[in-house]
Amino acid sequence: MSLNSVKNIILVMSGKGGVGKSTIAVRLAFGLSQQGKNTGLLDIDLHGPSVVSMTGIENQPIQTNQDHHMIPIQKNEYLHIVSIASLLDHPDSPVIWRGPMKMGVIEQFIKEVAWPSLDYLIVDCPPGTGDEVLSIIQLLQQGSQIVNLSTIIVSTPQKIAYLDVRKSIQFAKKMNVAILGLIENMSSIICPHCNQSILMLDTSETERASKDFQIDILARIPWDQKVLLEGDQGLSFDKKSNIGLISIIMKKRIEKSRGKIHWSGREDLNLRPCGPKPHALPS
Ligand SMILES: Nc1ncnc2c1ncn2[C@@H]1O[C@H](COP(=O)(O)OP(=O)(O)OP(=O)(O)O)[C@@H](O)[C@H]1O
Ligand SMILES: [Mg+2]
Repeated sequence: MSLNSVKNIILVMSGKGGVGKSTIAVRLAFGLSQQGKNTGLLDIDLHGPSVVSMTGIENQPIQTNQDHHMIPIQKNEYLHIVSIASLLDHPDSPVIWRGPMKMGVIEQFIKEVAWPSLDYLIVDCPPGTGDEVLSIIQLLQQGSQIVNLSTIIVSTPQKIAYLDVRKSIQFAKKMNVAILGLIENMSSIICPHCNQSILMLDTSETERASKDFQIDILARIPWDQKVLLEGDQGLSFDKKSNIGLISIIMKKRIEKSRGKIHWSGREDLNLRPCGPKPHALPS
């Protein structure tokens, strides 16, 4: 069976590299599966796939069924993962392909994978608006059984990141992909001393993009050492760390489906200064 029975598809995109797309895609997929939603996680970052190592399935090769269709790797009962990384001979092997080859493999990921019926398909995109992202949108829009195609755009709050993010927003609008909202990543840090979230960067670029394009800020995620270590080690994520993000996005989707355009339920982190006794920096 190809990808012809999926209720919701969410592309995790950004104009900029290294802002946390894969981290958010993996956590979103994991959180949905932990809630009993049948979830697919598709990594279309062909040149820099991260999903396999972030989910700790590096040593599991993809098997095929009797129709020669690839069988997604199951991380848990409800999470089905497909990535180019599972098809490479060695994790260090680079993918050296031009546009048509890339389009071909993405088409295979949709048409020649034995996807089960899915409540959600989360797609981890490469940075920018190149061949891979364009191909997947066009292929998904051709699929008659696919109902909700939307995107979450991720950024860090630096001006230079937002110059590219604004392009991603315009791209999504041109391609008629609904924008669920922006996620601002790593603008604050969780203080190891007082456990509070401390603002590190000016977040006005996020506010500006949100205002200019009438897009909600879905979440602001602090820099958290635990998130980084879990990403590096491919640990099984604890349930608690996913819940906030999932509930925010689910709420947004429910309100959209009821015809509401504006979403007011912002769950900003508590951005307070560190307590009276800040930790001394190590000398
Ligand atoms: N909130 C966070 N706190 C700490 N580390 C984070 C956080 N978000 C992402 N990271 C780390 O930052 C690095 C880059 O994140 P990630 O790979 O998810 O970005 P990306 O946008 O997918 O990058 P690329 O454009 O290369 O695909 C990773 O090491 C990841 O673990
Ligand atoms: Mg990535």
